[in-house]
Amino acid sequence: MRISLEQAASKLKQGELVAIPTETVYGLAADASNDLALAKIFSTKQRPADHPLIVHISDIAQVQDWASIFPDTAVKLAQAFWPGPLTLILPAKNHVSKVVRGGESTIALRIPNHPLTLALLKLSQLSVAAPSANLFTQLSPTTAAHVEAGLGASMPVLDGGACQVGIESSIVSVSADGSWRVLRPGMISEADISRVAGQPPEALANNSGLAASTPKAPGQHKLHYSPRTPTALFKDRASLILASKHLQQSGLSCAALVVGSGEQANCHTVVLNSAPAKVAEQLYSVLHALDDLKLDRLLIQLPAATAEWAAVLDRLTRAGHTKDS
Ligand code: TXA
Ligand code: MG
Repeated sequence: MRISLEQAASKLKQGELVAIPTETVYGLAADASNDLALAKIFSTKQRPADHPLIVHISDIAQVQDWASIFPDTAVKLAQAFWPGPLTLILPAKNHVSKVVRGGESTIALRIPNHPLTLALLKLSQLSVAAPSANLFTQLSPTTAAHVEAGLGASMPVLDGGACQVGIESSIVSVSADGSWRVLRPGMISEADISRVAGQPPEALANNSGLAASTPKAPGQHKLHYSPRTPTALFKDRASLILASKHLQQSGLSCAALVVGSGEQANCHTVVLNSAPAKVAEQLYSVLHALDDLKLDRLLIQLPAATAEWAAVLDRLTRAGHTKDS
C-alpha cells in the first residue's frame, strides 16, 4: 500500500512499520528507540533476534547518540561516503537497546542517500532501524512492487522508485583504535575505504578460525539473498551450457543469468554485460523476475573473482545456497 511522506512519518511515530526507499535496497523501518516497534521488524521478517539492525540517521552529529566512540578513521569514512551506501559498525553506548544491536556490544549506523527517506527522517525527527524489506533469507527488494510481493499488499510503502545502487551497503567495522575491516562487501570498495581511511584493513588471523574478538560477520547465514528457485552457480559459460542441456534432457525447465559476453545457453537467459555498478543496480530486479518464472532451476554464471566484482560475486554466491544444495 503506497503512502505519503506525512503518513509515513505519523506511522513511524506511532510505532508502526513503514517500508522506505534507500539508494541500496528498500528497508523495513521502525523507530529505532522503540523496542516494541523493533519487535515488529523481527516478527514481520521472521528474522532471528540475534541478527542486529542498521540504524539510519540523517546527520553525522547523531552518531554520538548511538556510538560510545567515533574514531578518527570512522569520522573520515563518514565524511567521505555519507549520505551513501556505507554502514559503520562502532562500539555502542550502554543505553542503546539490546534489541536493535541483537545483543552485540556494537551498533551499525548509516546515512542513506535517498531524498524521500532523508525528508522522512527529518520530518519525523526519528532515527529508524531498517533491515532490507524482505522475509529473512529471501531476495532483497529494489522496488516498491518487490516489497509488496514479498511482505504483502497491505504493507505501507513509501515509494521512491527503483534503487540506484541496487545491492546492500558495504559494512565496515571500526575499532576504538581506528583499525577497520569490511564485514560485507558493497559498491564502496575496500580500495576506496583504504584510501580514505589512510590505512589498510586489519589483517585477519591467518589460521582458519576467526579470533574470539571478531565481530559477527553479517549475512553469514547460508540461505541469504536466495531466490526460491533452486539455483546452481557456474564459473564458466561452457559448464553452464552443459548443465542446461542435461536439465532439458531430464525434462526440467531452467533460466540463466550470465555476467559478461559469450555463447548463449538454450534456455531463457538474461545477459548482464556491463560495468559492475550497472550490474549491481539491475541484479535483484533480474533475480526477482527470473524467480517469478517459477521454473525448475536457475543457473547463474558468476563474474570474475576480481576486486571490482567482489560485491556482486558475494550476493550471487549467497543466492546459490538454495534449499536443495
Ligand atoms: O543497504 C543496506 O544496508 C540496507 C538498507 C535498507 O539500508 N540494509 C540492510 O540491512 O541490508 P540488513 O538487516 O538486511 O543487513 C544488515 C546486516 C545484517 O547482516 C546484520 O547482521 C549486520 O548488518 N549488522 C548489523 N549490526 C551489526 C553489528 N553490530 N555487528 C555486526 N553486524 C551487524
Ligand atoms: Mg537483508
